Amino acid sequence: MQLIETASKQVRLTIAIGVLVVAAMSCAQAAQPMTAGQQNYMLQCQGCHKANGEGFGESVPDLRSVGRQLLAVPAGRQFYVSVPGSANAPLSDQQLAEVLNFIIADILGDEDGRDDSLTRFTEEEITSYRSIRIADVQRLREDLVKSVTENSLAKKRGGTGE
Ligand code: HEC
Repeated sequence: MQLIETASKQVRLTIAIGVLVVAAMSCAQAAQPMTAGQQNYMLQCQGCHKANGEGFGESVPDLRSVGRQLLAVPAGRQFYVSVPGSANAPLSDQQLAEVLNFIIADILGDEDGRDDSLTRFTEEEITSYRSIRIADVQRLREDLVKSVTENSLAKKRGGTGE
């Protein structure tokens, strides 16, 4: 008899814990609804780029370093889409647009869309750049970074950069 009581207490305790876990999980979900862009970033990109975009030193660039400057010019936007990590991801063009827009909003910090130079990607823009193959990714990045940082310096000085 006592054995049965102990067993049923254990069952009740297990059920109670189960209910608590489920409740806690749905609370967490209710507090932070995850967008499809964020989910796919976590699944397809975060392993290399990390949750905050900082990457891994020399091997994976920090998305936050020149992301804003790159995304403000067509050549940089093209680079963002055609870089292997983006172009080859098992995502549709629409899904890749959502992931890159998540990067713009959450990692580069333009949640409210206030920065006019950080236009959101559309599916069409992804389609137009995605099939471009980059021969030398490192070199293209170096050239782009050089050109966008020189441009923004020129803007700051109010000159043309000449
Ligand atoms: C296996 C590791 C890996 C994964 C997964 C990965 N990337 Fe990358 N990413 C890199 C590396 C390495 C670079 C540097 C350029 C290169 O060598 O391809 C890079 C560069 C980039 C750049 C250029 C940033 C800059 O400042 O130069 C963007 C944008 C980017 N990745 C987006 C993504 C997106 C979006 C995903 C997910 C859909 C993704 N990557 C998945 C490794 C990865």
